[in-house]
Amino acid sequence: MASMDYSRFKQQIHSILGIDLNSYKEQQMQRRINQWISRHRLNDFSSLVQELKSDQDHKVKFAEYLTINTSQFFRDQMVFQALGKEVLPAITAGGRRPRIWSAGCSIGAEVYSIAMIMQEQEKRFRQLLATDIDDAVIAKAKAGTYLSNQLQSLPQSLLGKYFVKQGEVYQLDETIRKLVTFRRHNLLTDRYEKDFDLILCRNVFIYFTNDTQRKLTQKFVESLLPKGYFVVGSAEQIMSPGALGLKRVSYCIYQKER
Ligand SMILES: C[S@@+](CC[C@H](N)C(=O)[O-])C[C@H]1O[C@@H](n2cnc3c(N)ncnc32)[C@H](O)[C@@H]1O
Repeated sequence: MASMDYSRFKQQIHSILGIDLNSYKEQQMQRRINQWISRHRLNDFSSLVQELKSDQDHKVKFAEYLTINTSQFFRDQMVFQALGKEVLPAITAGGRRPRIWSAGCSIGAEVYSIAMIMQEQEKRFRQLLATDIDDAVIAKAKAGTYLSNQLQSLPQSLLGKYFVKQGEVYQLDETIRKLVTFRRHNLLTDRYEKDFDLILCRNVFIYFTNDTQRKLTQKFVESLLPKGYFVVGSAEQIMSPGALGLKRVSYCIYQKER
C-alpha cells in the first residue's frame, strides 16, 4: 500500500474501529500513534492499517490503547468526599431514587465506587448506568477483577467488605456488581439519554478538542434534570459554565441551574 497521510489514516481508523479521530486532540493522538508504530516495529500508517485489517488481536489492543482507559477506585479523593457528603445526599433526599450515569466508565472503578458509597449509606437508586466506547473495558468492568494498584485509594474498610483476594487479583462482590448496568456508547455519535440526577464524565474530555468538549458538555447538560450535577476530571475545568446553564458548586462538580 502506498504511504498514507494522517487525514487518510483517520478515515481508515473511522471505518475499521468506528473511532473518529477528528474529535481528539491531534498532536497528542499523533504522538501516541507514532509511539505504537515504533513499539510494534511497523513502518508507517499504511502498515499499521494493514495490520489492523488482518489481525483481530492487534485491532482490539490498538483500540484499547487509543482510547486510554487508565482508571482506579476513588480516583481523586476530594471529588468522592464531596459526592458522598453533598451530592449523593442531595439527590437522594426524601427517599428519592436518582438516575446516575458514568460516561467513559473504563473498567468500572468510578461507578463501582459510587455504588459502594450508596450501599454504605443505604441509599437506593433508579439506575446506575455506566458506558464506554470500548467493549474490552466493558467486559473487564463486568468481570469486576482488579489489580492492587487500581485499589490503592479505596478505603480499607470497603476493600475488606466488598473484595475477595484471589491470587494476584481482587474480585469485587456480586452485591455491588449487580447494581450497575453497563452498555457500549460512543459519546461522539450515539444518542444521550435524558433525566439524570448525576452524570460523571471524568478524564475523558482531556483527549478531545475544545470544540468537541464544549459540544459534549452541552449534550450532558441537556441530559440532566434541573438541579442535576455534572462531574469532570481534575484537569478538565469547564470554561464559562454559566453560558451552558451550569454553576460550579465544588471541586470538579457543577450543577445545572434550572
Ligand atoms: C482515562 S479513562 C477514564 C475512566 C474514568 N472515567 C476515570 O476517570 O477514572 C477514559 C475512557 O474514555 C473512553 N472513551 C474514549 N473516547 C470515547 C468515546 N468517544 N465515547 C465513549 N467513551 C470514550 C475510553 O475508552 C476510556 O475507557
